Amino acid sequence: MIIRSYFICVFAVLIHKVSLQLTVEGFNGGSVVLPCSSTRHGYKPQDIEVFWRHNGSKIVFDIIKGKYLVEQQEPRYKNRTFPEEYKRGNFNIRLTALNHADAGEYTCLIAHSSEHNTVELIIKGV
Ligand SMILES: *[C@@H]1O[C@H](CO)[C@@H](O)[C@H](O)[C@H]1NC(C)=O
Ligand SMILES: *[C@@H]1O[C@H](CO)[C@@H](O)[C@H](O)[C@H]1NC(C)=O
Repeated sequence: MIIRSYFICVFAVLIHKVSLQLTVEGFNGGSVVLPCSSTRHGYKPQDIEVFWRHNGSKIVFDIIKGKYLVEQQEPRYKNRTFPEEYKRGNFNIRLTALNHADAGEYTCLIAHSSEHNTVELIIKGV
């Protein structure tokens, strides 16, 4: 509950800031890596709080105190999100079994350093 309101508050502040904007292309049925990295290094696991969202609100993936929280995850992303190298300050996720509804905007908010990245995902193929 506390974490949730913290997120909303931080997000509301950051949404007006200019952020890194990237475009990633994937194929229907394939997989992509959605990039998110911090300019800060040497995170302690308990300091890691990362929130991945799709189209502004859908919960794709959260890391809270260094642990993956999948309970809150939107059902459509279940079993399709795989974190990569988060211990080294890369909060990338791999999204597998892509479908057309996965297109759109992904936001990765790194709470501790107030950084956020936006990735536009384009799905190709039929
Ligand atoms: C997730 O994947 C595992 C391993 O492939 C599988 O056993 C499990 O049934 C899947 N769960 C859902 C909800 O799709
Ligand atoms: C997200 O937004 C994109 C672009 O508007 C749309 O194509 C896609 O279906 C949306 N997906 C979800 C799950 O909201």
